[in-house]
Amino acid sequence: MIAEAAVFCADYLAGVDGRSVAPSAEAVAGLADLCGDLPDEAADPLKIVELLHSLGSPATVANSGGRYFGFVNGGMVPAALGAAMLVSTWDQNAAFQVQSPVAAQLEATALRWVAELLGLPEGTGGAVVTGATMANFCALAAARHAILERDGWNVEEDGLFGAPPITVMVGDEVHSSLVKALGMLGLGRRRVIRVPVDGQGRMRVDALPHLDARTILCLQAGNVNTGAFDPAGAICPAARAAGAWIHVDGAFGLWAATSDKLRDLTAGFELADSWATDGHKWPNVGYDCGVALVRDARTLKAAMSIQAAYLMQGELREPSHYNPELSRRARGVELWAALRSLGRKGMAEIVERTSAHARRFAEGLRAAGFAVLNEVVINQVLVSFGSAERTLEVVRRIQEDGTCWCGSTVWQGKTAMRISVSSWVTSERDVEMSLAAMVRIVLEAS
Ligand SMILES: Cc1ncc(COP(=O)(O)O)c(C=O)c1O
Repeated sequence: MIAEAAVFCADYLAGVDGRSVAPSAEAVAGLADLCGDLPDEAADPLKIVELLHSLGSPATVANSGGRYFGFVNGGMVPAALGAAMLVSTWDQNAAFQVQSPVAAQLEATALRWVAELLGLPEGTGGAVVTGATMANFCALAAARHAILERDGWNVEEDGLFGAPPITVMVGDEVHSSLVKALGMLGLGRRRVIRVPVDGQGRMRVDALPHLDARTILCLQAGNVNTGAFDPAGAICPAARAAGAWIHVDGAFGLWAATSDKLRDLTAGFELADSWATDGHKWPNVGYDCGVALVRDARTLKAAMSIQAAYLMQGELREPSHYNPELSRRARGVELWAALRSLGRKGMAEIVERTSAHARRFAEGLRAAGFAVLNEVVINQVLVSFGSAERTLEVVRRIQEDGTCWCGSTVWQGKTAMRISVSSWVTSERDVEMSLAAMVRIVLEAS
């Protein structure tokens, strides 16, 4: 049965390049056969997996192929996929060393490798979580702890009611997940100072308000629409001197630090106190995998640690002291496998290759007469096909056509199509096929 399941997986991957990127309406309608009443009787597990493959696989979006450019979705490098299969087979609970030495040790190793790859200070610690949303949450929980601890307030024990106030600053183009994390931490989605940004979404240094030791300053490395980076080199030294806690949302952009050609974009972010990034974006670990990193890991542990008589704890790093969950998947093993297989060079190659593909998209679309709205600094491209209605109609037709898949956005008042090249699979052929389809579809829509 396991061998058959592996055959279905291989069959799925073999077919992914030849199919429509979005599932057909018939495939989605076919899901109704999986969504009926729960049967009374047990069924043959092989039949269930067969059913999933025959009806579920066609109703997926082809994220594992080379022409999915939606959101900032990475693919899955083969070592990560193989590791994910083993991790599922092992069924480890990666909460404590005693439950899974392999999960605990590889997670710690992967965290060290990520900090090294991103050029972060020695001694940085962290957590492997489900994505950048939770990574932002963990890092900001550490920030909240550290700032209130300076005032003698223990936020984990005593909560936020009556606590000294914390000022939170974000750029006006902050990612919504960071704002959500602030809400979950009791710091308020609305109770933030939004610092004005420029036309690429970069925080304006001249518009930065006064910072002090009760401030959490949230910077961004890689805007989800433009790919732009806040000018950390110009902001961080003064922010550090003022005693502010600097947090960086670098869900994908921070990985530019691995490339000799793009590293300059990340200069200054290493001066921060905490960082959030994703394994499932540029490193192509597969869903789901995020990473929170904190310069003083003690603060993260203070925010997240858990004690109970039955939870046996030793001398080594215990994963569950650093993240919100107790029971958890050994996703650190998949992160370890992806990085171990890519090495420093392979990681930099993904970053450089996908960024070159994005530049080619921008060049091809400009040459065809369309307006590219952003400076293509990394892997993100915003293109307008004219009015908002026309742009949205083109995006709808592109999705329906199935050659590739792109989403839409509104960038500083202008409706645009987003192209995010984040998968290791995307080839020059994929880019040229997609460009040709985009141009053809715009002409058809005229
Ligand atoms: C800058 C930024 N921060 C945070 C996130 C949220 O990441 P996740 O979906 O992994 O939680 C994203 C997602 O695209 C992002 O681009």
